[in-house]
Amino acid sequence: MNGAIYFASKYGSTAKYAGWIADETDLPTLYADGFIANPDEFDFLVLISPIYYYKPLMLDWIERNEAIIERKPFVFVTVSGAPPGEKLEGWLRDCLPTEFQSRMQHVALQGRQDPKELNWLHWIMLKIAALFNSDREAAREEAMGFDYMDRDSIAPVVDLIEKLKARGATQAA
Ligand SMILES: Cc1cc2nc3c(=O)[nH]c(=O)nc-3n(C[C@H](O)[C@H](O)[C@H](O)COP(=O)(O)O)c2cc1C
Repeated sequence: MNGAIYFASKYGSTAKYAGWIADETDLPTLYADGFIANPDEFDFLVLISPIYYYKPLMLDWIERNEAIIERKPFVFVTVSGAPPGEKLEGWLRDCLPTEFQSRMQHVALQGRQDPKELNWLHWIMLKIAALFNSDREAAREEAMGFDYMDRDSIAPVVDLIEKLKARGATQAA
């Protein structure tokens, strides 16, 4: 099966994960905007999106391509400040299409945020969010930044991709 990695990224941490996953799996990486290869050209998809304001940055792209994604196996990778767990799952439940949720194989990775790199709007928004966040650890990270980038954490994603490739090889035999 031939697959592709579609990703979005504002400050580069998700792009870095996409690059690492591409290195290990030999899949092409494509930036998820309106001007690139049609995802229908591939047998399976790997969608890698950071979380911004409790939603995947790729949500619009996912909604626009929902009919195509419904026909394909896919792996969905989120990159967030929040760790894997109920808080993150709740955000995804609230915004992702139901069919997408019921079929997704989801891996949650944690990314990076450096206050010095942020544009002024993001900087202000995170300072305000930190003031109102009752989770003190999350509030500290919103205000001060964090760096969880870890190449080893992609292992479950690589495993899922290898399984999809093997499934294709079995079907072709
Ligand atoms: C303006 C802004 C909003 C964010 N909102 C969330 C959020 O709602 N939940 C979360 O877990 N992380 C949030 N983050 C953290 C990002 O998901 C994290 O920094 C990620 O690694 C950014 O990916 P990128 O470098 O590919 O753009 C936010 C970061 C910024 C700058």
